[in-house]
Amino acid sequence: MDELKVMQEHEEQNENRGDFHSKWVCTANHGFAPYAQEELRRMFGSVKSTMLMPGEVFLATLGSSEDEAKRLITSSPPIFLRHLFPVHLEITADTAVEALHAVVEHVMKREEIGRGRVSIQIRKTENSSWKDNPAALRDELQHRLAAMELEYTVQAPEWIISLFAADGVWYVGVSRPEDNLSDWNGGAVRFQREEGQISRAKFKLLEAEKQFGIPFDSFRKAVDIGAAPGGWTSFLLERGLQVTAVDPAKMHPSLDGHKNLRVVHKNAADVSFREHEFDLLVCDMSWSPKLMARMVTGLLYSLQTGGTAVITVKLLTKKPMALVKEIMSVFEASRMQIQGAKQLFHNRDEITLYMIKY
Ligand SMILES: C[S@@+](CC[C@H](N)C(=O)[O-])C[C@H]1O[C@@H](n2cnc3c(N)ncnc32)[C@H](O)[C@@H]1O
Repeated sequence: MDELKVMQEHEEQNENRGDFHSKWVCTANHGFAPYAQEELRRMFGSVKSTMLMPGEVFLATLGSSEDEAKRLITSSPPIFLRHLFPVHLEITADTAVEALHAVVEHVMKREEIGRGRVSIQIRKTENSSWKDNPAALRDELQHRLAAMELEYTVQAPEWIISLFAADGVWYVGVSRPEDNLSDWNGGAVRFQREEGQISRAKFKLLEAEKQFGIPFDSFRKAVDIGAAPGGWTSFLLERGLQVTAVDPAKMHPSLDGHKNLRVVHKNAADVSFREHEFDLLVCDMSWSPKLMARMVTGLLYSLQTGGTAVITVKLLTKKPMALVKEIMSVFEASRMQIQGAKQLFHNRDEITLYMIKY
């Protein structure tokens, strides 16, 4: 790698920490990158962006310094932007070996990461100059960084070395996990599928718990609307809650006769409960969001003041941002305070709302 090229890269790095602009590799769920771009535009005014993986990963140049951008993004967390990392180095080397050399040289200069647990997070495009898989690149990088004697971890890192090896260019950044919106590689939260797990839907609630810090163990009585086949219900039962599951469809047989479960085989429009009966209401109906919001708000009398609601909102329209805003205002008008709204990794064409009744 020639001297001049490396110098240009280092100037780039300084600029990201300076006052002019900052570059970020940004990720959204597949197909939702345009909405993540729109969120950045609303926050920063005009945003220059280049797609790195269609519909999913893009490089954004923001008209704010890295620190200012971090402050803005973390103080009003976006819904569709799932993950980002600051770009401190762009490498346009001809070969993967040269690029890797530049990565090592750069990381070696970041001595501060030697004082904390470090995670290396690698992603690549299909036509990247690195032909093997990302794990092999991570291993190679670790090997070459051996002299730094870093303490590596997958969970709860204090520093993340991010590398996105795109077609022609490698993007590198070193950052704190909280500045990336997620400590998972690309915000892709992975859970182990359990033996006998009823549905993948359970992952949504597990992810919501982590994302929003919802204390599920602290609730006592929950109503699960649109509960079948019972992934969410089983999660709540495992946390020791009493659960009322509402769904005309069949629940999974493994839940039959559970002592803390009451199943109501009815349409949610036809059920009634006692006032303030529940301290948790969850709903994953996968239905018209406006009808869902009307139905759920009609049942909020059964939720205690201070009670929590976790709801998925199906994005059936081409204007998801306007739809989300509308649904949030329906809930806000029903004394629900929005604590969090996010398109989780395990959400498909939907987002998850976390709310508290006041
Ligand atoms: C995506 S599934 C729920 C998956 C569930 N959260 C789990 O973890 O297994 C949606 C469910 O909503 C139910 N549903 C749709 N409309 C409903 C309504 N009006 N009242 C009650 N349940 C409804 C469907 O029967 C379906 O079982």
